[in-house]
Amino acid sequence: MSSQVLLSHLSFSYTSAVDVLTEVSLCLSQGWFGVVGPNGSGKTTLLRVLAGDLPGDPAMIQRTPSDMIVRYCPQRVEHLTPAIRDFAESWQGNAHRLMGQLELEPTQLAHWQSLSPGERKRWQIGAALVDVPELLLLDEPTNHLDTRAKKLLFDRLERYQGIGVLVSHDRQLLDSLTCSTIRIHPGGTVKLYSGNYSAARELWLNEEKRSRQTRSKLQAERRKLKRRLDAARRSREKAESDMDTAKRLKSVHDSDARSMAAKGRAASAEKRLGREVTVLRRKLGKADETVEQARVDKQVGRSVFVLEEVAPMQNLIWLKTPAIRKGDRILLRDVDVLVRRESRIHLKGPNGSGKTTLIEELLQASQLPEERILYLPQELPHERVERNRRMMESFSDMAKGRLLQVVAALGVPPERLLASEQPSPGEARKLALAMGLSRQAWLLLLDEPTNHLDLPSIERIEEALVRYSSALILVSHDDRFARTLTRETWRLEEGRLVM
Ligand SMILES: Nc1ncnc2c1ncn2[C@@H]1O[C@H](COP(=O)(O)OP(=O)(O)OP(=O)(O)O)[C@@H](O)[C@H]1O
Ligand SMILES: [Mg+2]
Repeated sequence: MSSQVLLSHLSFSYTSAVDVLTEVSLCLSQGWFGVVGPNGSGKTTLLRVLAGDLPGDPAMIQRTPSDMIVRYCPQRVEHLTPAIRDFAESWQGNAHRLMGQLELEPTQLAHWQSLSPGERKRWQIGAALVDVPELLLLDEPTNHLDTRAKKLLFDRLERYQGIGVLVSHDRQLLDSLTCSTIRIHPGGTVKLYSGNYSAARELWLNEEKRSRQTRSKLQAERRKLKRRLDAARRSREKAESDMDTAKRLKSVHDSDARSMAAKGRAASAEKRLGREVTVLRRKLGKADETVEQARVDKQVGRSVFVLEEVAPMQNLIWLKTPAIRKGDRILLRDVDVLVRRESRIHLKGPNGSGKTTLIEELLQASQLPEERILYLPQELPHERVERNRRMMESFSDMAKGRLLQVVAALGVPPERLLASEQPSPGEARKLALAMGLSRQAWLLLLDEPTNHLDLPSIERIEEALVRYSSALILVSHDDRFARTLTRETWRLEEGRLVM
């Protein structure tokens, strides 16, 4: 029998303030399922539920076979896990083949801390695949990967035979790998569509259009019915008052019977119409829900408004050094660069070439006041997320209001952020970005800023940064995003910085 995972009416919340998943029912069988939804909607939560990683009612999740091998690859890869170590040390042919396919070298583990997040990601996924899982859960696997690494990973995932669940904002990956799409709405409801992301998107856009049409048709019908119901109610009332008058006048029996019959007819018409109105109200409620959902989903489309200020000095950072190292490795030689107040630089290079290290060196060399620099690292450390949250709490009502406006325009409902003890990676990045932008930074150092962000927010940020004329150093594998925002390229090639 082929494997299967069944979720029935599963709900989950971290705190009583916000429901993350509500009444989710899904049946997953062999093939790749894409999971999409805005930041903070509950994609990671759904994966963790499927992995059995969160407390929940076991009756609501059924796996066939019950001892199915499940592997979950979380969004962040920081630590060298025993699974990765076992994989690297394995002598089995399968492990060696996988390492070859993913271009992994066991010697890399010796300097794990200096591996780039993209390299660590491949180790993490390799270690999961080597166990031949029946259920493989991947949370945004391509966030840190360059084009080549993405291709390596895709080629391997395409051959996977089990049930695959892939959370991603990468349209290209979703479209080429998945054949079903699970869409999560901010309210925690989940819907399964057949087809990859583009096909599913077309289905839900049509669905929303049909719901809008149905809603206006139902509204017109309800108005008509209500008029008929009012008329029926009036005739029943009239029949009742006729009967009362007849009783008072003690008129003959047949006149009494006539009034009774009229009242009975009017009452049953009223009852029938009342029932029809109830049915219509229910249908209308359903159509309203879909239309409302579409409206909520579209709120992300508001533009980001930020005040800006250009630096008063011409040159911001000068970095001149014979070598930049990471641990005992020399990453770059003979570096001599100047960042001016109008610089808009795209910093490019394959995974592990030293982009992040160069940014850290630039920060070291900087003499600018700390609050005038917005440095958004590739992965926000937990302490920084926590510090930002505490800082937001300490703001005056006005400053907090302004900040939350930017946060909301980036697609995070402020009440969710305020209620969440652990913002999701997407929410945390938007908060950090909003804080920097509302501080009027002179220099933005953004290391893969679109990682973890949903598609509408990427477009909003692009729009905001185009108008924000401070200096910018951008590391991004998203070429379209980088082309729009930068004017020059610094390329890291074989240990040199080429301009
Ligand atoms: N441990 C936790 N305690 C409280 N709230 C949490 C916790 N973890 C997540 N949340 C909240 O639950 C909601 C769903 O989080 P989840 O991480 O599943 O979102 P996501 O869709 O994966 O987001 P992203 O696209 O940013 O990765 C978010 O609003 C988040 O702030
Ligand atoms: Mg997530």
